[in-house]
Amino acid sequence: MSKRLGFAALSAGMALTLAACGGEGAGGSGGAGGGGAETEDLTIGVSMPTQTSERWIADGNNVKEQLEGEGYTVDLQYANDDIPTQSQQIDQMITEGADILVVAAIDGTALSGQLENAAANNIPVISYDRLIRDTENVDFYVTFDNFEVGVAQGNALLTGLGLRNEDGSPGTATGPFNVELFAGSLDDNNAFFFWDGAMSVLQPLIDDGTLVVKSGQTSIEQAAILRWQQETAQRRMEDLLTSAYNDGSRVDGVLSPYDGLSRGIITALQNAGYGPTLDAQPQPMAVVTGQDAEIASVKLINDGVQSSTIFKDTRLLAEQAVAAASAFAEGNEPEANDTETYDNGVKVVPSYLLPVETVFADDIQSVLIDSGYWTAEEVASGQSD
Ligand code: GAL
Repeated sequence: MSKRLGFAALSAGMALTLAACGGEGAGGSGGAGGGGAETEDLTIGVSMPTQTSERWIADGNNVKEQLEGEGYTVDLQYANDDIPTQSQQIDQMITEGADILVVAAIDGTALSGQLENAAANNIPVISYDRLIRDTENVDFYVTFDNFEVGVAQGNALLTGLGLRNEDGSPGTATGPFNVELFAGSLDDNNAFFFWDGAMSVLQPLIDDGTLVVKSGQTSIEQAAILRWQQETAQRRMEDLLTSAYNDGSRVDGVLSPYDGLSRGIITALQNAGYGPTLDAQPQPMAVVTGQDAEIASVKLINDGVQSSTIFKDTRLLAEQAVAAASAFAEGNEPEANDTETYDNGVKVVPSYLLPVETVFADDIQSVLIDSGYWTAEEVASGQSD
């Protein structure tokens, strides 16, 4: 308990006062026993993986704005998907007196040293969207229901192929269909949850021959794309088309766990003559799934090129991160709604999981535009304002 209440920025004496006060009224905007920390005295370090994806830019902005709205000072850093850069940025946040850390890790296993340092300075650590692994020094996890994301992606692939309707009832198609499988970065714990969720839906249909993975690449290691890189996904799709579909056969569907990968996959397919963009021997685009409702992909869905994405409302994730930070600032435990699923190899990290929504072209208006996530203009242009 005292760990959470003793902030690095406070003197040892004040930290003791905070600890002695217990949860009630300690820290936060009420101050500690009349003489403690106001939120504006507290700095929150926010460490994000990369700015190459819309998604993480939105996450960073949302968390920063909402924390500042609560009166905290925010130190937001992006690490260019480079592990040493992220480690160094977190070290620096600690040196400069961060009171709480919010971290979306590049490599979930690479931050143990930094987090030991955080623990030694009594800094609570909130793992943001991606679970930090192999350390006891992570205090809370805010994320989406990542297994359900995978289930939704598997179902969206089946719906796109016509095997299943959106309500889960059988569709009119019977198959067999050729599909290829992609997974995320193996250093990201989420990649395994997405894969396991999707395969819980797809494996029975692979087993009964409805779905055929012509490349034979059916393990997560074969399907994985390091750092979730679009170009790497494009190259893998090109290789699959050359090696497994050079006999006149076509790939009907591709399981993709993230919009960035989907765009690489789609480019490879378009270059090979799939989809409406090439008029020499046009053939239908394969059904490609996704995740994150990135604006470039929402446009592709709107244009009938990408089949679906999974919407994760990053505004709500930011809200949960802020709620967790505020709870720690007040000397309380954040409210968890899952205390079983996320074992990081050392302990089960108490988590708050948010629900997700599947988006096909028909859902863009009601799910993404009506909620104010994207405007109609952004969807039409494929660019955020
Ligand atoms: C995952 C995250 C996904 C996607 C991916 C690539 O950790 O859960 O939503 O953003 O990283 O950035």
